[in-house]
Amino acid sequence: MSTWGRFFSMETSLRYRKNSLWMDGVSLRAIARAVGTPAYVYSARLVRERFLRFDRELRGCERLICYAMKANSNRALCGLLADLGAGAEVVSGGELRRALAAGFEARRVVFSGVGKTEEEIRRALRARILSIHLESAEEMARVAAVARGGRGPADISIRVNPGIEAGAHPHVATGRSGDKFGVPVTQAIEMYRRAFKDRRLRPVGIHCHLGSQITRVEPYARALRVISGILARIKTWGRRLDFVDLGGGMGIACGKNKIAGRRGTLLPRGARPGQELPLESLAENIREFARAWPRTKIILEPGRYLVADAGVLLTSVLYRKRMEGRTFAVVDAGMNDLARPALYGAAHPIAPASRPGRRRVALDVAGPVCESADVFGRRYRLPQPSPGEIWAILEAGAYGFSMSSQYNSRPRAAEILVEGGEFRVVRRRESWEDLVRLEKRYGEEK
Ligand code: LLP
Repeated sequence: MSTWGRFFSMETSLRYRKNSLWMDGVSLRAIARAVGTPAYVYSARLVRERFLRFDRELRGCERLICYAMKANSNRALCGLLADLGAGAEVVSGGELRRALAAGFEARRVVFSGVGKTEEEIRRALRARILSIHLESAEEMARVAAVARGGRGPADISIRVNPGIEAGAHPHVATGRSGDKFGVPVTQAIEMYRRAFKDRRLRPVGIHCHLGSQITRVEPYARALRVISGILARIKTWGRRLDFVDLGGGMGIACGKNKIAGRRGTLLPRGARPGQELPLESLAENIREFARAWPRTKIILEPGRYLVADAGVLLTSVLYRKRMEGRTFAVVDAGMNDLARPALYGAAHPIAPASRPGRRRVALDVAGPVCESADVFGRRYRLPQPSPGEIWAILEAGAYGFSMSSQYNSRPRAAEILVEGGEFRVVRRRESWEDLVRLEKRYGEEK
């Protein structure tokens, strides 16, 4: 563990000290002063600890943790996980390139997604990744066709849709019947039957992903039973698979106060903190499964679990605005920077970067984007801010920057990595030139 690691709690990177909010020994106000806002700030230490904890829970099983890069594909962050021995789960040619550039070993990369193009398939085969996870019979035919004439068969898995309701937000539930992902069990068996006979294909695993922010173990246990059934069927053909990939979706304790030594809610009114998925119990189910299928490796694809709590989005208060019994605080981060509240109604905790006094007021926190959905939450209990004050929007390390856009022609935020008591910019803030770089002026097309 690093020197800083000894001083800070395992659960969080944040604490108030000398009237400021600090992340692992670095003042967030100092970062905001140096790089401006909005800015994403990540704790390298917390990412590392979350990964090591995840890995430790699964001790005793042969395992590979493939970080779901869609959660946050910043190269520095990915490189840190690659150094720890993580693999990567990618869903596009772009993520595949990022994964390889960040240092993930190709033989630790799996590629999912319902709509891989021929070009993406070709790149995956050329890179010799661990598995292309197939999501339809037509895709299997396409992969076989691309693999023909290549250097040996394509390593594939089939993504099964087990028809399980995992309790995730409907936008991110993926394992129910009717969802576009994977294929139903009978179709999966039929596809394996054909794949084992096809010299262009080598079935190496089976894949299943139920959804995101899942907080109960039972859906995973059910999925393992469905997978066992398929493995048993495959066994009757005298065949076997090298691994079972149970996907990601491991939920975090959303909205729980994660500032060291602090109690009380940082959430808007009406929002309740959630429970983390009990990892030990998931691991117990996996170990039991592994006892039944001893030569089968387990892959998991956590995204949010590893990075969400490690990141905050720093924003400055621009204005206060009182009307009809409400007070708005207008901040300089918007739904283009962090889309989750507008998209899923997600409630992110907000903490002032200066140590708050006792007096709080009810504030609706809104961004500058021209949409009524650009509100982080209603009635946060926050100290009355003055313009220029810095706030940290918490739990923003996953699906924050990676889902951000330039909507309203807003340059994307800077990304900062905090490590060893220092910070460094790992993606600079976009500039005006970045906004227009790919465009031509009217009349300038030729
Ligand atoms: N594996 C596959 C095949 C996935 O589709 C996903 C996420 C993951 C792994 C990682 O899931 P995680 O462990 O992060 O829950 N934008 C949404 C979440 C979308 C998740 C999509 N798939 C949000 O901000 O809540």
